[in-house]
Amino acid sequence: MPLMSDPNRWGLGARTLHWTMAVLIIGAGIVGLYMSDLPNSPQKIRIYALHKSVGLTVLALLLLRVTWSLADRRPVEVPMPPWQAMAARTVHLLLYALMLLLPLSGWLYNSASGYPLQWFGLVNLPSLTGGPDPALKGVAHELHEYGFWLLVLALVAHAGAALKHHIVDRDDTLVRMLPLLRRRAAVPTSAVPAVAAEPAIPTAPPAAAPAESVKENPNP
Ligand code: HEM
Ligand code: HEM
Repeated sequence: MPLMSDPNRWGLGARTLHWTMAVLIIGAGIVGLYMSDLPNSPQKIRIYALHKSVGLTVLALLLLRVTWSLADRRPVEVPMPPWQAMAARTVHLLLYALMLLLPLSGWLYNSASGYPLQWFGLVNLPSLTGGPDPALKGVAHELHEYGFWLLVLALVAHAGAALKHHIVDRDDTLVRMLPLLRRRAAVPTSAVPAVAAEPAIPTAPPAAAPAESVKENPNP
């Protein structure tokens, strides 16, 4: 699989970043919900440290992902009604914002609580507040907690839409983001065999269209 995306599919780089981050974010969320109610113990401190380190990894990967998407090209949008395309773009933007907000609010909360911060015991990170700040601590905690539940809502819409494209519309939206599955033809093979062998989205623009037409859909 090519490293870079092309007009028909996401490249290895974008897919790897998408699914690695999805696993880490969902993992951090589950650990976050579990750890808060634990009784105080060295084990609780270790689990908090793990949660923070995974969350900071998400922040680092987000920076990498945004940089990557500037160099990569987005595949052409699968045909869909304009309102759906608009909704998809809005949810993607919201997901990017939350991928930034959650680690930063967690870091802010940690700083305002006056705790030191390390990444997997290897790298010391600075305090964002320069010491304890009770007022900011409350705000950061609210941002972290409500931000997480907003992420859950956005994720339900996002994953639900991806599954709807796959199961109901039977288009390529999900398949071209998954690591292993092969792309499916746009038209059932039994209906029009010769046409069905063609890719769902042409790799070259139609003769009449300007060469730039496949460059639409800039990176977000
Ligand atoms: C993708 C990243 C992250 C996600 C999805 C996430 C999610 C969560 C969730 C769901 C909770 C439980 C909220 C509650 O019910 O009170 C939580 C708590 C917490 N998170 Fe995160 N978090 C992330 C990153 C971070 C980072 C980077 C830090 C610190 C550097 C951090 C520090 C904390 C702390 C200290 C708590 C405990 C709050 C308390 O004891 O009430 N989180 N997080
Ligand atoms: C925390 C988990 C997740 C986050 C933060 C997330 C975030 C995103 C973002 C921001 C994009 C847009 C990529 C871009 O345009 O640069 C995207 C694309 C995509 N995501 Fe997720 N995602 C998550 C989980 C999932 C899950 C569970 C599924 C499937 C069930 C999924 C399926 C897809 C698909 C199919 C695309 C490509 C859409 C297209 O080609 O227009 N994602 N994801």
